[in-house]
Amino acid sequence: MKKVLSLFSSAGIGERGIEAAGLKIIVSNELEKIRSDLYKENHPDVKAICGDIWTEKEHIIHEWKKVCGTEPFLIYATPPCQGMSSNGAGKLLREIREGRRANEDPRNRLIIPTMNIVTELRPHWLLLENVPTMDQTIISDENGKSVKIIDYIAQQLGAGYTGKAEVVNCADYGIPQTRKRLITIFSRDPEGIEYFQKNASFLPATTHTETGDLFKKPWVTLRNAIGGLPELSAETGKNERKDFHPYHIVPLLDKDKRWWIQNTPEGDTAFNNQCCNPSCLFKGNPSHGSHYKGGVHQSNKNTPIFCERCGALLPRPTVKDAKTQEIRLIRGFDTAYRRMEWDKPAPTLTQKMHTVTSDKKVHPSQNRALSLYEAMIIQTIADYPYKFSIDGKEVSRNTICQIIGESVPPKLIEMICRNILSLY
Ligand SMILES: C[S@@+](CC[C@H](N)C(=O)[O-])C[C@H]1O[C@@H](n2cnc3c(N)ncnc32)[C@H](O)[C@@H]1O
Repeated sequence: MKKVLSLFSSAGIGERGIEAAGLKIIVSNELEKIRSDLYKENHPDVKAICGDIWTEKEHIIHEWKKVCGTEPFLIYATPPCQGMSSNGAGKLLREIREGRRANEDPRNRLIIPTMNIVTELRPHWLLLENVPTMDQTIISDENGKSVKIIDYIAQQLGAGYTGKAEVVNCADYGIPQTRKRLITIFSRDPEGIEYFQKNASFLPATTHTETGDLFKKPWVTLRNAIGGLPELSAETGKNERKDFHPYHIVPLLDKDKRWWIQNTPEGDTAFNNQCCNPSCLFKGNPSHGSHYKGGVHQSNKNTPIFCERCGALLPRPTVKDAKTQEIRLIRGFDTAYRRMEWDKPAPTLTQKMHTVTSDKKVHPSQNRALSLYEAMIIQTIADYPYKFSIDGKEVSRNTICQIIGESVPPKLIEMICRNILSLY
């Protein structure tokens, strides 16, 4: 079996796709103990090294050589993305030249020990997954020189490797989520190089498009993916259906938040809610608005909270000042308290998938966030064997949200690995 080294493995969710494609993970590395422990539970045959890649890199190389003796078929690396800037590379380079650059996020430099391991072990294939903004992210290399991460990777690999970084939308691969990720693949095998010369890409052909056509199916929507599941509501006694599935459960919301989202139409935000006074029901109150100013997403500052026709409090996110008793709009963008849409895939799941105040996290028609089980379906984890417990004890729901939000949909990784393997 072809052998894999997995770096930044977290709890090994995307890795399920690697195994399903027929590859064997031999060694992995992850910083956080709880994630590494969960990894060991789910991948008991893998030598899972827990610790910082900077200090563990020699250990990782040593373990690989000890256990395998040969070069890895694949090194799979999914470094953390929180530090990747959405500022354009051009703007950053100008700031660096002018000495105005804010401090560099040290997480972006994790590509350096990654490439130290890659250049030492010389895998046949390198596969990296990250956010699209990685393409624009600049780091200072070992010599303090500013360089785009993707250029740094290509420089370190040298002329023997061929490949590139490409943005994929998971929905185009039949995953019910418009998660966009930068997939970087390089190969040094003749089979890979020849394929790349013909196709200019290592990615498998997409299988779906937004509306579908003669050759491709339409995107898988939330209705297709979770439409038939038992109803839940974010109130006591109605927020779980463990009899149906142990993770069909949502966090409780206080009465106010429930009132706001109860009055929110599908696809809209509670910040735009209209009058719900039965004798008025005025629909013309100004909305929260959404615009870009100076490259930053902004919403109106003067959004009304009382109905302009009858004066009743609108079911918009508000807070009462304890001292003055004054009611004011909670600050927030119009992506907060926003309902998803049944006939679209879910937006990107994040670590905050359980928080209705986070980006588009309200269920399309029920008064709650997504359940953990629904998140597992949307991230395609439910299609693979996976357990969220260590030594028979379940990890917390918060940990599950964090791990799912940071994971790579295993279906995407399986399709990519199958495409690579089809070349042999
Ligand atoms: C994007 S997640 C990986 C997701 C994983 N491949 C999956 O599909 O579930 C990145 C992981 O890198 C880990 N990490 C961050 N800094 C690290 C470091 N210095 N050394 C090793 N791992 C690190 C984080 O704890 C996190 O679990």
